[in-house]
Amino acid sequence: MLTLWRHARIATCDEQSRVFDRGAIVTRDSTIEWVGDEHEMPAGLHPDRTIELAGRWLTPGLVDCHTHLVFAGQRAAEFARRTAGTSYADIAREGGGILSTVRATRAASEDELVAQSRPRLRSLLAEGVTTVEIKSGYGLEFETEARMLRVARRLEAEEPVTVSTSLLAAHTLPPEFAGRADEYIDTISDDWLPRLAGQADAVDAYCEDIAFSAAQCDRLFTAARALGLPVRLHAEQLSNVGGSQVAARHRALSCDHLEYANEADAVALGRAGTVAVMLPIAYYALAETQRPPIEALRRHGVPLAIASDCNPGSAPGASLLLAMNMARRLFGMMSDEVLLGVTRHAARALGLEAVRGSLAPGRAADFAAWSVDSLDELGYWVGFNPCSLVAKDGAIVLERDV
Ligand code: NIG
Ligand code: FE
Repeated sequence: MLTLWRHARIATCDEQSRVFDRGAIVTRDSTIEWVGDEHEMPAGLHPDRTIELAGRWLTPGLVDCHTHLVFAGQRAAEFARRTAGTSYADIAREGGGILSTVRATRAASEDELVAQSRPRLRSLLAEGVTTVEIKSGYGLEFETEARMLRVARRLEAEEPVTVSTSLLAAHTLPPEFAGRADEYIDTISDDWLPRLAGQADAVDAYCEDIAFSAAQCDRLFTAARALGLPVRLHAEQLSNVGGSQVAARHRALSCDHLEYANEADAVALGRAGTVAVMLPIAYYALAETQRPPIEALRRHGVPLAIASDCNPGSAPGASLLLAMNMARRLFGMMSDEVLLGVTRHAARALGLEAVRGSLAPGRAADFAAWSVDSLDELGYWVGFNPCSLVAKDGAIVLERDV
């Protein structure tokens, strides 16, 4: 079926970043057939139905390329301690932090995890998100890591969203392996990865003093790539321990956080074609003061993406629009950088840029309509959501009065 979506102002976010003031899109089932100025629509296209967008702005469906949205419980008590002055790293060293959520997640059934995670996913979808990356990493044992990936796949089957999964078994050292981090990396590499390769789209790790060393991430990535799995990395969040260089060497899809990355890291990421994912909600919630080197990343041609980082510790909540606002206010990113950061560049961070994250013929008919006067309003409003319609694979999946 051919559908004409008309009377929109359209930002394609494709390679040419085209903008059409009197724009229209024709979709054939789940795919974009044509996009452009309506008066240039090819005469041979005869739509079966027409949807009126009444002058709203239309962008690609947003892509949240870094979330930990599947987990059980919450860590509000830790947040209270952090606001009173205890650091995130100190809480982690005491056995709290990620390990606290590991205990809750191990104890939760698959159904409980689906039920607790769905509202967070829906909160993102209400903001025009149509593609979400979801990590494991609160199991740190085979069964629970596998369960988290199954939950992510179930959410994809049950909600109007494309899910990209990352195996983050190397999130922190589980108590069973205390003092044996190298053995844990071997167990993931030699045993878990081959068994979970079919369920995970990529392999992630946390490279930090309180997690794994650059050498350990390097070994894990070598094993992942031998199985044909792309890699991504949490790097230089609290200190610089060489993660970006490892990520670049393995041509990682993305390298995320990067507050403590330096110029040489930006050069390496630029050469590798790795996307730098900015996570300003984590920066804010941890009261970080060191900003990621945006200028250097720009200078060395590193594509910038922005993600919510939705997780119970460093980024509680589920709002990509808030992350966009913070990327502008706290990191000084421009509104067009921020838009590309949640569309084409975010899709690239997931290896999906050929299909999602931009509007062009042959790509997925995923888009969001915004009741705004100007695209500068995306990442401007705080706590206000101007998304009024979402189409996923050509079908309207959300309409709200704004
Ligand atoms: O992206 N840095 C490590 N992982 C998460 C935090 C996870 C947690 O605290 O539960 C992050 O900030
Ligand atoms: Fe994260």
